[in-house]
Amino acid sequence: MNQQEIHTLRQLMEYEAGRTAPPKSFPTLPDIPGGRYTDPRFFELEKQHIWRKTWLLAAHIDEVPEPGCFMLWEKAGQPVVIVHAESGTINAFYNTCSHRGAPVVTEPSGKRARLTCKYHGWSYTHDGELVGMRDPEDFRDLDFSCRGLKRVRCERFGNLIFINFDPHAPTLIEWLGPIANEWQEFQFDKCRLAGRHIFDLKCNWKIAMEANTEVYHVPSIHPKTVAQMLDHRRNVNTLYANGHGRMIAPGRDAGSQLRETMTPKNIRLIDTVGVIGRTCTQSYGIFPNWVSPLSDRSIPPLLFWPTSINTCRLETWTMVHDWGDGPAPELTDMWTVETDSGVELGAVLQEDTQFGEWIQKSMESYGFQGVPLSYQEARIYHWNQFADRMIGIDNIPPELRVAQVIGEEWIYPNDPRIALMREGLAAAG
Ligand code: FES
Ligand SMILES: [Fe+2]
Repeated sequence: MNQQEIHTLRQLMEYEAGRTAPPKSFPTLPDIPGGRYTDPRFFELEKQHIWRKTWLLAAHIDEVPEPGCFMLWEKAGQPVVIVHAESGTINAFYNTCSHRGAPVVTEPSGKRARLTCKYHGWSYTHDGELVGMRDPEDFRDLDFSCRGLKRVRCERFGNLIFINFDPHAPTLIEWLGPIANEWQEFQFDKCRLAGRHIFDLKCNWKIAMEANTEVYHVPSIHPKTVAQMLDHRRNVNTLYANGHGRMIAPGRDAGSQLRETMTPKNIRLIDTVGVIGRTCTQSYGIFPNWVSPLSDRSIPPLLFWPTSINTCRLETWTMVHDWGDGPAPELTDMWTVETDSGVELGAVLQEDTQFGEWIQKSMESYGFQGVPLSYQEARIYHWNQFADRMIGIDNIPPELRVAQVIGEEWIYPNDPRIALMREGLAAAG
């Protein structure tokens, strides 16, 4: 972020703190239909058009560090194996033997010279080519070259490995758009995986994710944690193409001790991170299911995966800057605490997830009407609006659609607040 951008952002923080209504060109947001969280038709549309067509964070290079290393990945409901090939490329395939569909790997992870199906012994290279089988003379006209493992799109952003099931999707970099540039300062090619945990929640995945996509809730449910750390009235939301969003809220001194407690210990700071990442809470939502507050201390994405229409899985990651040669430092996970009964969600995420099951029950009740969102919650609306475009508006039953009311003028780099703010400054000056 250059000096001019930082200056504008600081001014926008003051604009947000001083306004007495939403910015005048910001649209009225119609209610989000409750059926989007409860209707099996919408769940199926998400499966076909969102989970199947978008870039999903699947793995970290530390999980498949050397040629031959593989890992199973089934979080999006499809059987996928991710493999580190001799060339250094990371490949992803359906974990489905081209003979009769048995898996080519059954362990969660490991290292192998070949991927060999245990059913009848067909064997594949790390690039997915079929190179061996028993009794080939008993197959008539079998063309090895068309019987390799079926590939899944797989691209990297630094050390992160993303998957996309859609052969026609844009590249990962195109998908991220300007965010790919904004993230250069975090040195994703040097981040190491310090911790990852899974928690099952009893609510639709979007209910859980939306708790991390606005700051309106902060004073109510985080009075002793997040509210101490950030000034929610000075929060600046930015909406990006492809449904992505960003929030930047200035830090409060009162929260510095807490920030220390939540920070992994013994880490190297990411010294290229600018003043905003060092002093504010800067969090990105990457469509469809990634939310991450990035700072000079850590890169800790939260990922939300549906397991059914009314249950989901929260995956917490903590990544820190490369610790260099030598043993890994003793790391404290950003999101979790270790207790006698195992790893549990830390205070902030316990607060964020506490109402999920209740909200799900409410949304399934006869009395639920819809979700009215405020300007502070604009990123949630923007996400839903883009979700409908991803699904194809005509594919959605009319009662489950959201109206497309946030126009291009609100999508980065456009921002009508800048002109409003300057008008205000000129009037005041
Ligand atoms: S199913 Fe894999 S070799 Fe037969
Ligand atoms: Fe929260």
